[in-house]
Amino acid sequence: MIDEKQAVALALEARKKSYSPYSKFAVGAVIVTNDGRVFEGANIENAAYGLSMCAERNAIFNAYMHGCHKEDLALLSVIADTGEPVSPCGSCRQVISELYPADKPIILANLKGEVRKTNAKELLPFAFDDQDL
Ligand code: THU
Repeated sequence: MIDEKQAVALALEARKKSYSPYSKFAVGAVIVTNDGRVFEGANIENAAYGLSMCAERNAIFNAYMHGCHKEDLALLSVIADTGEPVSPCGSCRQVISELYPADKPIILANLKGEVRKTNAKELLPFAFDDQDL
């Protein structure tokens, strides 16, 4: 089974696939499933900036597009070249809160080897969800 350290290393590999000519801020992410599969994501930007997509969401969408659902997901790791371990944006927090299990580990990292372990509940307390509709 892929451990947290390995997941960070895999996210660093995924980061190489970032297409970020505008921000020059490359982000990598991976989702690890309960049965040990790995789905990568990197941020993919566009000249129409608002169409860009974050690494975290690409990794989660990648897993779903391969037939995974929330209950199949075991670990999410994200890495970028930040002073502190990378902090997912608000849009990603909303998507994570719906599509990733509330209590499963989310490992945030930076290139200095610093790591922060958190979860979806901590990243977005009091989230808007389907129960609010
Ligand atoms: N970005 C991510 O992919 N994930 C984050 O957690 C923060 C921001 C991307 C979006 C954009 O392509 C670039 O980083 C700068 O904001």
